[in-house]
Amino acid sequence: MKDNTEIIERIREKLGTERKLAYVHSFGCQLNVSDGEKIKGLLQQMGYGFTDDENEADLIILNTCAVRENAENRVFGIIGSMKKLKELKPSLLIGISGCMTAQPQIAEKIHRSYPQVDFVLGTSAISGLPALLLDVLNGREFAEDIAEYDDFSENVVQVRESGFKASVPIMFGCNNFCTYCIVPYVRGRERSRDAQDIISEVRQLAADGYKEIMLLGQNVNSYGKDIPDGMSFPQLLRELNKIDGDFTIRFMSSHPKDASRELIDAIFDCKKVAKHLHLPVQSGSNSVLERMNRRYTVEKYLDTVNYIRSRDAGFSLTTDIIVGFPDESDEEFEATLDLIRQVKYDNIYSFIYSKRTGTKAAEMPDGTPEDVKGQRMRRLLEVQRGISTEFYRRFVGRTLRVLVDGASKKHEGFLTGKSSEFIIVEFEGGTELVGQFVNVEITDSMNWAVTGKLVT
Ligand code: 5AD
Ligand code: SF4
Repeated sequence: MKDNTEIIERIREKLGTERKLAYVHSFGCQLNVSDGEKIKGLLQQMGYGFTDDENEADLIILNTCAVRENAENRVFGIIGSMKKLKELKPSLLIGISGCMTAQPQIAEKIHRSYPQVDFVLGTSAISGLPALLLDVLNGREFAEDIAEYDDFSENVVQVRESGFKASVPIMFGCNNFCTYCIVPYVRGRERSRDAQDIISEVRQLAADGYKEIMLLGQNVNSYGKDIPDGMSFPQLLRELNKIDGDFTIRFMSSHPKDASRELIDAIFDCKKVAKHLHLPVQSGSNSVLERMNRRYTVEKYLDTVNYIRSRDAGFSLTTDIIVGFPDESDEEFEATLDLIRQVKYDNIYSFIYSKRTGTKAAEMPDGTPEDVKGQRMRRLLEVQRGISTEFYRRFVGRTLRVLVDGASKKHEGFLTGKSSEFIIVEFEGGTELVGQFVNVEITDSMNWAVTGKLVT
């Protein structure tokens, strides 16, 4: 870990006594949000306060996502609109961090076309932020740090977005090279954090009263494989389960090729581990899975699902699906519909394929028209809506333990939360319950949530 004490002290002196405000916005996945929390931790040490209004900010950091093109386009739109803010307040500093910065052609575009950007910070360079900022505060026109320090920013105190849910990255990077995915190029190879560091962090979070710990990695099932005699992921789950406190452990994401019986047994054995598995299948067609380089077949995937369901027929599963992978045929798409009908997911997260420069799939011919991809997406959502409506009924009459997230946006006077099964539960109650576990007797189900009555 870089020792930033001296640089941070110099920045504090430079900023003076007037309180400066930072606006930090993270796009994309929870790993990126977690990086954003570390960035905020460093800024807080430097003396920055935080604002949600970019108009009153002295420093803006956009922590970007590169997984799909529309996310990138949104960021370019926002950077463009910040030119005005800078004209109004020339002392405003603007920095870009996250996955977009790791693509050379994008970094080059930011530098060339957006002179309002003062600095660029790479995904593995978070602990380089203080030095970068000092350079810019000293008048340097443009500064960049895209080095790979690989120090996991271990000692950075994070400014967490929630007071009761905490994300804990357990590993960084990805070795899988699915042909559509930019992540291995922007986040590098797999590196696992030391198990004892993770255990200590979770112990502290539990002692601080956090109710949900989300373990993060691009493929948590590879955890520990890069450390000699490293603890496996199922072993880590069992260790974390022993920590005192009333909290739930979740994790994301699991690659189906590595979702072992040992993992599933650990989920069932560990009381604190949520009874839900997110198992991204991407497609229900073996030929598409092969073109995606997923390294499992539909049959192998179903073996895993069947093992889970043999232990609990109503076990909650969710998945990711990519619609319109290059040259996906009607038959290949129908195979995906067949699979989701067979598995009965509680929920699916579906995305239209987005071409990512530098990946193998970007070189593949793609004759499927965009409007056909759009139609397939609508069909997929329609089929899933039917499945959710039917499958959610299994909760009616049961009492679910729910962690309360806040006031419902859809039902006035209602609260919303998530059960261990990752189901949205809505019920009447006061906001003093936010951040607490409550029991809710389920009385009704919809296609996106269940509703019920608070059990006192
Ligand atoms: N296009 C569309 N969706 C993608 N995903 C990853 N890369 C792409 C892409 N190029 C989806 C996958 C993954 C989720 C996080 O994002 O479904 O599981
Ligand atoms: Fe997360 Fe991947 Fe997006 Fe990076 S590209 S923010 S790792 S989803």
